[in-house]
Amino acid sequence: MDAVSFAQDIRPLFRDKDLNSMSWAVDLASYDDVKTHAEGIYNRLSRGNMPCDGAWPDDRTALFRRWMDQGYAP
Ligand code: HEM
Repeated sequence: MDAVSFAQDIRPLFRDKDLNSMSWAVDLASYDDVKTHAEGIYNRLSRGNMPCDGAWPDDRTALFRRWMDQGYAP
């Protein structure tokens, strides 16, 4: 499988609602911001308490983890 990229694979997972709800803490549209907060974001995703209106399916959270583990490709 190709390397997981922020622009191609991760950014499209965040809805406008996610961007708007989280802008006080992290800009989910920003590569730098998501990279900086990646551990905290992953913790929320994997525990299932973010997004606040429904957990991501496991394969989607695993994709985010893979993006981290592969070194945060832009
Ligand atoms: C994929 C989408 C989302 C991600 C990755 C995400 C991630 C996070 C993270 C990392 C925090 C902790 C921030 C901090 O304390 O610095 C947080 C807090 C919070 N988020 Fe989200 N969020 C998402 C979507 C949403 C949505 C859709 C809502 C509500 C409509 C929401 C509401 C909140 C609220 C109210 C808090 C503060 C209370 C708490 O810590 O539980 N988030 N979120």
